Amino acid sequence: MSIVSPAESEHPRSIRSFVTRSGRITEAQQRALSELWPKYGIEFTRQPLDLDAVFGRRAPRVVEIGFGNGENLAALATAHPERDYLGIEVHRPGVGRLMLAAEAVGLTNLRIVCHDAVEVLTDQIGPASLDEVLILFPDPWHKKRHHKRRLIQPPFASLLASRLKPGGLLRLATDWEPYAIQMLEVLGACEGLRNLSPTGTFVERPAERVTTRFEKRGTRLGHGVWDLAFQRT
Ligand SMILES: C[S@@+](CC[C@H](N)C(=O)[O-])C[C@H]1O[C@@H](n2cnc3c(N)ncnc32)[C@H](O)[C@@H]1O
Repeated sequence: MSIVSPAESEHPRSIRSFVTRSGRITEAQQRALSELWPKYGIEFTRQPLDLDAVFGRRAPRVVEIGFGNGENLAALATAHPERDYLGIEVHRPGVGRLMLAAEAVGLTNLRIVCHDAVEVLTDQIGPASLDEVLILFPDPWHKKRHHKRRLIQPPFASLLASRLKPGGLLRLATDWEPYAIQMLEVLGACEGLRNLSPTGTFVERPAERVTTRFEKRGTRLGHGVWDLAFQRT
């Protein structure tokens, strides 16, 4: 398993949307990273993935970017065996945790790339190849001097739009209102994306969205939650 951080990579297109935290990793997660990685993991390369070959079939494809501990992704992959799910996350303990959850219920429709999602989408995912992309509670980078680290910025929005099939969905949620407004503005101005909100703003919380660790934390802190949904035109 290899992880290249933007600092190590010479890739010019990355937003530094994360810091690689060493973090605590449990023995079980560490074991999952070595023993289950061959089953669920996909190494990052600069070549486009053949998703039909990866999943051994052609099915609707959903990508979750920054899945954290993977609660939402594991629940969706379990509820929808007819769909294939690709999770992209740089935080190794979360990757280990999701693989343990996947193994516990015998998921066959889930794969994981442990690498910067900007690079994965740029190089490894072909144009118009995804049915849905989920970005739930991306790091809000509260301080003004850190706003440039936010994932949802015009170049990344265009990249997301280009990776969705026509009619494909982009769903986001955040508990930080200024970031929610930035998402609305950036995605609303992105060519090829249409806001599905009847009011041109936010949408109802999708019934299927599982409450993640970061959502719970936001709720504890008294934050609201803003859901967004855009469609590739
Ligand atoms: C605030 S957490 C939210 C995690 C999860 N979605 C949740 O709701 O609990 C944001 C996550 O995005 C990941 N992340 C940030 N930038 C990323 C990138 N460029 N590529 C992959 N993962 C990224 C971080 O490692 C972190 O786990």
